[in-house]
Amino acid sequence: MAHLLLGQTLAFTGDPFTEGPGAARHETHGAVLIDAGRIVATGPADVLRRAHPRAAITDYGRALITAGFVDAHAHYPQTAIIASWGKRLIDWLNTYTFPEEMRFADPAYAAEVAARYFDLTLANGTTTVCSFATIHPQSVDAFFAEAQARGLRALTGKTCMDRNAPDGLRDTAQSAHDDSARLLAKWHGVGRLSYVITPRFSPTSTPDQLAALGALWADNPGCLMQTHLSEQLDEIAWVKSLYPDARDYLDTYEAHGLLRPGGLYGHAIHLEPREKDRLRDVDAGLIHCPTSNTFIGSGLFDMAGLKAAGHRVGLATDTGGGSSFSMLRTMAAAYEIGQLRGAPLHPSALYWLATAGSARALRLDDRIGNLVPGMEADLVVLDLASTPAIAQAAARADDLWGALFPTIMMGDDRAVRAVWIGGQARG
Ligand code: GUN
Ligand code: ZN
Repeated sequence: MAHLLLGQTLAFTGDPFTEGPGAARHETHGAVLIDAGRIVATGPADVLRRAHPRAAITDYGRALITAGFVDAHAHYPQTAIIASWGKRLIDWLNTYTFPEEMRFADPAYAAEVAARYFDLTLANGTTTVCSFATIHPQSVDAFFAEAQARGLRALTGKTCMDRNAPDGLRDTAQSAHDDSARLLAKWHGVGRLSYVITPRFSPTSTPDQLAALGALWADNPGCLMQTHLSEQLDEIAWVKSLYPDARDYLDTYEAHGLLRPGGLYGHAIHLEPREKDRLRDVDAGLIHCPTSNTFIGSGLFDMAGLKAAGHRVGLATDTGGGSSFSMLRTMAAAYEIGQLRGAPLHPSALYWLATAGSARALRLDDRIGNLVPGMEADLVVLDLASTPAIAQAAARADDLWGALFPTIMMGDDRAVRAVWIGGQARG
């Protein structure tokens, strides 16, 4: 049965980075008509009410209805180690991450954390996540089974590592290829699920493993591939020592068939000019992980420069290197990093990144990430006065962006009034 949601509505008609804040459509008294899991119509509430008198109505009052948040890079197995103190990337991996990821050999533990992870992300209004799993195939099964049970559009892949990781957390070039191929055949395109080929990063793969995964990607060019790139200076120096013939960090992927459209490169902070040129020419996805980049002390992503140069950029929590499950908090961190680089991001650009921009990075922007007829009905409903501090700041606003920015900067799961998944309301 058709369902009419009433509230303020926000949709994007273009990319605010290139077209400005006018690339958005805001209705103060708006409506979204959903039916059979899809958005059927959007527009002024009175018009849609008259046109669809038999639709069930949920009235969200002054709350803001938009597409649900899209988190383009996360590590669901790091849920329990979020906010672990005091280490930088390589020490952080060895001290906190690898011991925790070892536990995912147990399918019951993987299932428990996957359920906890989706409870947390949904409570924060995130309706699609592209996550790393662990090296264990059962960690992929646990994630997809939980996403499937909740009707979510979700993406993950077996994280591949065949060196520089502890015993019990290494595969081989051959087993990484074969396990990934088997999981891809099992899950890719099943319902709303997508398999992502996932070498962790060059230091934990041999050239043979990167080449094996490059070959798998060539056999399955419709899949995405996700990895990490140029996050910390120590890491880049390590990559240079491990791959002495590579022109730069990106070349370790490029030389092994791991640079194509549909590549997702997390962090991408300390890029050489050649790397930027190649990433833009290929139209690869760069994923900005701002709370992680400050928490682990990695550096300041050049959002303004990369967007101006035409890069495809998404936004992500990178939990648990990132310090929050919230895409609101993630937008706030992106704003602060922009300020530190002398290029503050407008609220329209921040919100676009967290929805349509991340969907575009994941090449799903024809299905999710915007309030447009025909798209899947994955929605978030935000209370723009969810705490006294936010309410009093928003009350001064004279347009939507002024009313939304306090929630972007100070909001959390208390701002999430409702989430709709595939046209169904979820608590
Ligand atoms: N580089 C390689 N693995 C990881 C990871 O799990 N988190 C982050 N932030 N960077 C990485
Ligand atoms: Zn990551």
